[in-house]
Amino acid sequence: MSKFILKWGILATGGIAETFARDLWPNPETRDVKDVEHKVVAAASSSSKSRAEDFLKEVRGVEGAKAYGSYKELANDPNVDIIYVATPHSHHYQNVRLCLEAGKNVLCEKAFTTNAKQLEELIKIAKEKKLFLMEAVWTRYFPLSIQVREWITSGKIGPVYRTFADLSMAMPPEDTFKDNHRMVNPALAGGALLDLGIYSLTWIFQTLYTTQKKPQAPSLLTAVRKYRTGIDEQTTMLLNFPREDGGEAHGIATTSFRVDGDPDGKASAGPSIRIQGAKGEIQVFHPAFRPTKTKLILKDGTVEEKDWDFPGPGKGSGWKNGFGGTFQEEGEGQGMYWEADECAYALRDGRKEGKYESLEESLVIMRTMDEVRKQGGVKFPDKIETTDYPVDLN
Ligand SMILES: NC(=O)c1ccc[n+]([C@@H]2O[C@H](COP(=O)([O-])OP(=O)(O)OC[C@H]3O[C@@H](n4cnc5c(N)ncnc54)[C@H](OP(=O)(O)O)[C@@H]3O)[C@@H](O)[C@H]2O)c1
Repeated sequence: MSKFILKWGILATGGIAETFARDLWPNPETRDVKDVEHKVVAAASSSSKSRAEDFLKEVRGVEGAKAYGSYKELANDPNVDIIYVATPHSHHYQNVRLCLEAGKNVLCEKAFTTNAKQLEELIKIAKEKKLFLMEAVWTRYFPLSIQVREWITSGKIGPVYRTFADLSMAMPPEDTFKDNHRMVNPALAGGALLDLGIYSLTWIFQTLYTTQKKPQAPSLLTAVRKYRTGIDEQTTMLLNFPREDGGEAHGIATTSFRVDGDPDGKASAGPSIRIQGAKGEIQVFHPAFRPTKTKLILKDGTVEEKDWDFPGPGKGSGWKNGFGGTFQEEGEGQGMYWEADECAYALRDGRKEGKYESLEESLVIMRTMDEVRKQGGVKFPDKIETTDYPVDLN
């Protein structure tokens, strides 16, 4: 049987765009995916064509790929099946809309948009145009996450009453970022919540919401510590989820640029995520976005620790991937390919959204983050909160 080949366009040339494009190179058979393949056929930079050319030089297996000096040219390339949007959060609405209006399917980095209104608009357009649209919350597509959800839905730890989830990385902003950097700049929708906290929320939602047959949106209480630029540098969220069997389940989601979820880098601080049920708990270790270790602890005395692989071409391949100057072992994947595989299966089979996070769920999470910002008094400029289109942000 011939394989389905998904032809990717990469929109933006920053850190994660490079990591994602690199992860499309390993043969999917190395992770037991036998019926789909990926090919980067084009990349675009908002600054210049030569920047896009330089970007493509950093990625394997992109011979013949086109380089563009504008996102519009990429959106109009008839050879591209799907566009991966990897600009700052502030730009997602404008960039995704450009792609959808041009008739392109889209995988968009987290956080999906700046606010829920923008996402509602994008979903409406994608539905009208019968296009695929998915938020690139890669962690949801890991075999580790699939297993954790399966442990919950199969009743392994009994009814789940509470999940703690943290993603905190100590990077004192004043020493780490200039005030115009996307991590702390309100004009680029910076802050701990939209960048890191979304992973804490991912674990809360995929354990207390996705696993319910008729999930209901949670109520919320928030504490926010602000940075001098006005963004949140530390946020704590208490979420109360109505459960289908009556009663509630609690989610405690935390995120910070000030303290570290794994201060010594050896997991001495214990798990970052604890999913607690009547019969035991599931622990997941830092970092919440790319965990490699789980521990299942049951009241009957069972303790099962598991290390999770990120397959790839292996040692001797001369290939490495990573992010932010940190690389995995030679030949080990970053793990972004699993969400890419999901896009390929969806497009092959005619599905219009991701299997493990529906657009409706992305929207509920976006509404939750809107409410966190409202309670915490975190505001972004009107220019990036609007649903007007087109708006020139650069
Ligand atoms: N999944 C993950 O693990 C992960 C990790 C990090 C980040 N992310 C997400 O990926 C997105 C991008 O993050 P990143 O770390 O890759 O950011 P980055 O390194 O700053 O890259 C962003 C890119 O966006 C483009 N861009 C367009 N307009 C821009 C503007 N006004 N200011 C800055 N950049 C602009 C630039 O490329 P061109 O102009 O050349 O197109 C730039 O290189 C964010 O949504 C972030 O949350 C995800």
